[in-house]
This record gives sequence, structure tokens and C-alpha cells, in this order.
Amino acid sequence: MQIALAPMEGLVDEILRDVLTRVGGIDWCVTEFIRVCDRLLPETAYHKLAPELAVGARTQAGTPMRVQLLGSDPVCLADNAAFACTLGAPVIDLNFGCPAKTVNKSRGGAVLLKEPELLHAILREVRRAVPAQIPVTAKMRLGFDSPDCALDCARALVEGGADQLVVHARTKVDGYKPPAHWEWVARVQEVVKVPVYANGEIWTVDDWRRCREVSGAEDIMLGRGLVSRPDLARQIAAARAGQEVVPMSWDELLPLLQDFWLQARRKLAPRYAPGRLKQWLAMLTRSYPEAVALFAEVRRENDCQRIDQLLGAPEAALAESA
Ligand SMILES: Cc1cc2nc3c(=O)[nH]c(=O)nc-3n(C[C@H](O)[C@H](O)[C@H](O)COP(=O)(O)O)c2cc1C
Repeated sequence: MQIALAPMEGLVDEILRDVLTRVGGIDWCVTEFIRVCDRLLPETAYHKLAPELAVGARTQAGTPMRVQLLGSDPVCLADNAAFACTLGAPVIDLNFGCPAKTVNKSRGGAVLLKEPELLHAILREVRRAVPAQIPVTAKMRLGFDSPDCALDCARALVEGGADQLVVHARTKVDGYKPPAHWEWVARVQEVVKVPVYANGEIWTVDDWRRCREVSGAEDIMLGRGLVSRPDLARQIAAARAGQEVVPMSWDELLPLLQDFWLQARRKLAPRYAPGRLKQWLAMLTRSYPEAVALFAEVRRENDCQRIDQLLGAPEAALAESA
């Protein structure tokens, strides 16, 4: 069984990848999508969204990171994929699921699911350009407004050369509304020979059990559920191994939150750092009453030093980040 941390643009950056993979249970993670339009992106664009490339394409905890590209031009995607490999990308992942209007208007993301032939062409070109030992993987939704073409899309991706698929079991029109249609993951797996990961609406160990039953999938990708409950992968891995599931306490989580804050302070201008903390803390309120209390205290706070105090971040680390 493999458990992946989902790519999440504007949320799961290198800081959250670092902190979450340190908790354990995550086998691999992915960058936020890197948008490819009509040219070869400069090296800086890759290092900005995938700083782990400079340190062996792994997070501090040693978890491998894939580079995700989003675009619609097969040749341009292929050139960028080959370039990302020269920078150290160990796996190239292609995004065919993004529902954002701006992305879909410029023919990227989920809108491509209307064109299985184009999916095939993209995979074929990228596969051809990427060294043989580097896997190319794809992440798809079930379709744009219906799952009618899901199987055609999956076949097109795999026949084009995808080594693995992640299926976010909803259409673009479904957005992020529950439920996720896990039964479609089973249908996709029936028509392709590569491993198919199930993704969507796994928030708890019980959700995972139901997902496994309905989808038949051994491998899963966790998104919002893992950000809201940072030990979700660890819990699921324990349950899978027949071990006792011991949820992470707030006391274990707080140092990670403090470290996240320090890294956000180092990376971002003082006016943006608080927003990052609030974004994660708001998601943690789903799982931790302590997060509800802390969020209530920081929600109107924009002063970084006040937030240092509220979080109780260790003095020495703060001096270092100043
Ligand atoms: C804020 C946000 C950003 C996302 N960004 C990406 C992305 O960059 N690439 C991608 O393939 N999927 C992206 N997704 C989709 C997630 O990877 C995942 O498929 C989706 O959230 C469903 O999984 P979940 O129910 O476990 O969250 C994003 C989702 C959210 C909520």
C-alpha cells in the first residue's frame, strides 16, 4: 500500500510538505502544479515551487517529491518535463483535474478531459522526452461535467505512457462537493493495468476503510483530510498493518505548527505570513478543539510578533528567523 500527499496549490508548499511528511505514513508527495503555457520555464520557476530539487527531491524527512506540470501543449509540456528531469525531478506528474476557471480557459486542467486524444498526445510526447527510468504519472478527475468519458480518458493516459494514475473521483462540475464517487476508481482499474490510486473525501480511518471497499484500491492519495489531521496517513498505515491507531495529540502537533510558523515567517513578507498560518490552523479546527481556541485568538491578528507570543514559538528559533 502506498499513501501519497495530494498536490494542493496555494496550500501544500514546501513548508507544509516538510512538516506533514515528518509526521509519518506518507510515501510520496507532489509539488503544487507548475503551469506550462508556451515556453520553457526558467530554472528559477522550478526551484520556486520545488525547492526540494536542490536537496535530492526529498523533504527533510526523506519523502520523495514528484514535480507536477499543468498545461495542454504536448510539445511544450514535453520540453518542460525533460528540463525538470535535468534539475532532478525523480517523477513527472501531469495534472488533468484542476477546476479553476483561469486554468480551464487557457486549456489546462480538467477541461482536457473532454479531449481524450489530446490526453493521449500529451502523455506520448512527455513519455518520449523523459528519460526511460523516470516514471510519468497522471492525476485526473472523472470528467468535465459527467463521468461518461472517464474510462476513455484513463485508457488514453495509460496507452500514451502513464505509469500510474491518481483518480480524484469527482467531475470538474462536482468541484469539491461530497461525495467522491469511489466506485469509479474500481471501474478505471478494470480497464488499465497500471496502479490506480483513489483520491477524494478521505478524512478518517473509517472513510479509508469504506473507500477501499468501494474502490478496491490499495493505494490512496490524501488531500484536505491530511492537512486537517496531519497524522491521517500514519493512522491509516497503522490500521492497515493491524496495529492500534493512536491519534496524534495537540502536544505533539504544536511544535510542528510552531515550526511551520517559523518557516512561513522566514519565507514570506510579514504581511503574508499570518495568512498562511490562519489557513492551516482553520483546517486543523476540524480535528482539534485546541485549534479552535487558538484560531479564535489569531484570526484578527496580523502582527507577527503577537502571533509569535500566541503560538508560544521558542525564543531561540524566533531570534534566528528575525
Ligand atoms: C486548495 C486546493 C489546491 C489544489 N491544488 C491542486 C494542484 O495543484 N494539483 C492537483 O493535481 N490537484 C490539486 N488539488 C486537488 C487535490 O489534489 C485533491 O485531488 C482534492 O482535494 C481531493 O482530495 P481530498 O478530498 O482528499 O482533498 C487542489 C485541491 C485544493 C482543495
